[in-house]
Amino acid sequence: MYQILEKEELAPKIQKFEISAPQIAAKAEPGHFLIVRVDEFAERIPLTVADYDREQGSVTIIVQEVGFSSKQICDLEIDDSFLDLVGPLGKPIETEDYDRVICVAGGLGAAPLYPKVKSLAKKGVELITILGAQSEELLILEEDLADLSQELYITTDNGSKGRKGFVTDQLEEILTEDDQFDLVIAIGPMIMMKFVAEVTKEYDIDTMVSLNSLMVDGTGMCGGCRVTVGGETKFSCVDGPAFDGHLVDFNEQLQRSKTYQDKEEKVKEHEFWGADCRAKREN
Ligand code: FES
Repeated sequence: MYQILEKEELAPKIQKFEISAPQIAAKAEPGHFLIVRVDEFAERIPLTVADYDREQGSVTIIVQEVGFSSKQICDLEIDDSFLDLVGPLGKPIETEDYDRVICVAGGLGAAPLYPKVKSLAKKGVELITILGAQSEELLILEEDLADLSQELYITTDNGSKGRKGFVTDQLEEILTEDDQFDLVIAIGPMIMMKFVAEVTKEYDIDTMVSLNSLMVDGTGMCGGCRVTVGGETKFSCVDGPAFDGHLVDFNEQLQRSKTYQDKEEKVKEHEFWGADCRAKREN
């Protein structure tokens, strides 16, 4: 069992959990992810490692409540436990030998980006961060990212904070004035990463994205997370989730991400699985 040490609400329906998991914390690196299960009937949920503390033996995850399973996690409190925490899974994001980096986070993408920003800042890399969300209340980790970056730009779709518009608008403006950057790391909604990669391609800047593909086992066995990168089939769970953004077939990924949309809607409407799980628990 993996006990919850701390819980914090970062934004409406977005919770941060610090969980006791010494063996995972000892090996976790930025870019890794975990698969968590609340109890024996729960869905396996892949979640990025948002931070880790090797001394304390803890890992941090950030969860947005969007359906039954994520609500089940968000309802947990300090001292509750997860039945399973598998990880660290995937490959860490490699960023050796870069001096000037732009990090772009959209929505919950700030969570997986944060440990990478932290490690780059520690190495003395010059960092500009662009943090975007639909609205001010959905911006997370703003202060943490500001502390680690030379400059932090905020964008919101509705203009409630920072620049009104998308992260790509801000990115274009920065690159128009100065395009001498070694790398752009973009993590957020698939469509955001697609457009960031299109912008950086024009400027010929290396670009890394982290894909939130559909996952089942997380160990390369089921093929659920497959993605075409540079014409080759890769599995996000074992070959990624970070890939060269200029090589990812985003249109295929956007199509695949809709595979279970109708079922997800059904679950939301009828709480089909929720009712099923509750019935099993009660019997
Ligand atoms: Fe099954 Fe990646 S999640 S192969």
